[in-house]
Amino acid sequence: MDYSLENHASYIGRPASELPTPALLLSKPVLEHNTSILLEDVKQLGIKFRPHVKTLKCTEVTRMMLGNGTHRRIVASTLAEIRGSLELVKSGELDEVCTNCFPFKQGTPPSQFLSNTNCRQCLYGLPVSASALPFLETLTKSLKIILMIDSEQQIDLLESYASKSPSVASWPVFIKIDVGSKRAGLVNNSPSLPKLIQRVETSSAANVYGFYCHAGHSYACRTEDAAAAVLQTEVEGVVEAARSLVDDKSDRRIVVSVGSTPTAHVIKRLQGVLPPGMELELHAGNYPSNDLQQVATSLVEPTQQAVRILADVCSVYPDRNEALINAGTIALAKETSEFPGFAIVVDRPQWSVVRMAQEHGILGWAKSEQTDRLVAKTGSKSTEGDQVETAFKVGDKVMLYIQHACITAAMHYAYYVVDEQDIVRETWVPWKGW
Ligand SMILES: Cc1ncc(COP(=O)(O)O)c(C=O)c1O
Repeated sequence: MDYSLENHASYIGRPASELPTPALLLSKPVLEHNTSILLEDVKQLGIKFRPHVKTLKCTEVTRMMLGNGTHRRIVASTLAEIRGSLELVKSGELDEVCTNCFPFKQGTPPSQFLSNTNCRQCLYGLPVSASALPFLETLTKSLKIILMIDSEQQIDLLESYASKSPSVASWPVFIKIDVGSKRAGLVNNSPSLPKLIQRVETSSAANVYGFYCHAGHSYACRTEDAAAAVLQTEVEGVVEAARSLVDDKSDRRIVVSVGSTPTAHVIKRLQGVLPPGMELELHAGNYPSNDLQQVATSLVEPTQQAVRILADVCSVYPDRNEALINAGTIALAKETSEFPGFAIVVDRPQWSVVRMAQEHGILGWAKSEQTDRLVAKTGSKSTEGDQVETAFKVGDKVMLYIQHACITAAMHYAYYVVDEQDIVRETWVPWKGW
């Protein structure tokens, strides 16, 4: 049992520096700032918004992302995230099953599938698997579930499942379009795409809800212009795929869903008019927290990182100019970016975690152009030429910025939620498992 699970609340009211380490600190003011920017952007644009709950996987952050009930759709990548989100169904922020549009009887005409695009619903964001289906079916009793598909074999799966459970309704599906990240999805010029669309159209086990792309490759963008260009590719990708299903004569509506945190950060640059019958939604997940990978895109400021890890300095090695902290791979994650190492000391950015073992992190001097940028942007100490024995001593606490919040957060059982002064004000318990 993780110690924090039984004791986290006892630290409320105390300075973060008194926490047992390693500990994950979440800055509530930064979370509020980051989530309100995107809520305002989508409001101004008048588009729908589907936050991905995979980064901080908890009720409190999901509530903030949804704007306390303003938005009613989420995307999840595990069943655990969907089960966790049912808390928001209970509180009325995500709705119960919407009787207007779900469950559809097998054979329901496609024109009825989107009769209410405002109902509360969750997209299971991985291409659907055989082992997830029975659990997803159970979850449809509480929340409208949309599936992601990118292969005709998944329709075989749904049809075979429906033949064994005749009461199961036709599943609304997003067809995944690959706009360059080569993870899931079909590219628009794949001969398999029209065949898949046709197959869904004629299947009683599924119906097309929309087309979805996720521009994971946008993490390589380094300027606003580059991210805006990827955003444009996303919109063009899903619109092109959706064209075969809508025209201005039918009342059918198809959702086209685009996003990733870097492209969400430039959503205001969205251009063009959607063809009739299409509804645009934005999805994004990492943006409430951000991390060094996001700062590396140059689309967010270092101070927009909501997650930090607190660790203890356990040993100092003047001979090799290094120190040892008690945060290693399973407190930080092996993710990297242009920022050196696996994590960076917040107030001395030229020191980073240069090597790790499971529970050991080695702090080393790793000055680079990127760390100089952090020094300039955060006003932190420039410690050029610093020696480890003057920078750290045994017993010191260090705060670390991490490379990829989604993965680091998954390894912590309690989040210590701090205010501007780093006083713990709340503790939040994330959803765990798959
Ligand atoms: C299918 C899907 N949608 C949305 C997201 C959210 O992306 P980001 O965290 O870049 O906002 C992810 C992240 O991996 C994803 O896999």
